[in-house]
Amino acid sequence: MPRRLKLDIPGPDRRVTPDDVLAKGWAALFAPDLASPLRIVLEIGFGRGEFLLDLARRAPEVAHVGVEVSRKRVLKQARRLARTELGNLRLVHGTGEQALADLFGPASLEAVWINFSDPWPKKRHHRRRLVQAPLVAAVADRLVRGGLLQVATDDVPYAEQIDAVLAAESRLENVFAPSRWLADVPGRMPTAYELEWRAEGRPLHFFAYRRIAG
Ligand SMILES: C[S@@+](CC[C@H](N)C(=O)[O-])C[C@H]1O[C@@H](n2cnc3c(N)ncnc32)[C@H](O)[C@@H]1O
Repeated sequence: MPRRLKLDIPGPDRRVTPDDVLAKGWAALFAPDLASPLRIVLEIGFGRGEFLLDLARRAPEVAHVGVEVSRKRVLKQARRLARTELGNLRLVHGTGEQALADLFGPASLEAVWINFSDPWPKKRHHRRRLVQAPLVAAVADRLVRGGLLQVATDDVPYAEQIDAVLAAESRLENVFAPSRWLADVPGRMPTAYELEWRAEGRPLHFFAYRRIAG
């Protein structure tokens, strides 16, 4: 029998809705834990969420926002987060595309992380891939000057697509140039999916692009 999902949040509930963000703004939603002006880091598709928790723990003075399309993942992360002392992390249930469009203004994000988003290997499903030119353009617009977009994938054809759309965005510059990506980034905390793919010996691709003038 499938285990029933636990719905109670055993501590502060760090979930916020898009309506909350639109009505109150991020500064009010992070108060009193963080003072304005906020520095904001966004992870899209945080999955099991350990990477995002680690980011938030490492930079307690920075506001972290996780956007995830799976309601179950958001609930589980909210339960986990409620048992911690972390006041610098908020969770949104929704898509990254919509969150970028509605919830963040130009030059409002210090960093954006997209780790191992679904590769949708069948050609007819490629349009469902997260990393596409419109999304990258939205990220470039939302990043502050010097802000970073970091993307990881284990899928070779998807890596080629990611490389092409990132390289084509004139407001971003490749931090790892002349390499198109790195197979390993020293000091980087692995995500849950990354550990699985590493165990299977799959090739990994890590991209880092910086927002430049333009
Ligand atoms: C393959 S998992 C990777 C999870 C995690 N980043 C990791 O590396 O372990 C992809 C995650 O992205 C989420 N996702 C897929 N499309 C999304 C979208 N458009 N916006 C936000 N999250 C999305 C999925 O629900 C899933 O949790």
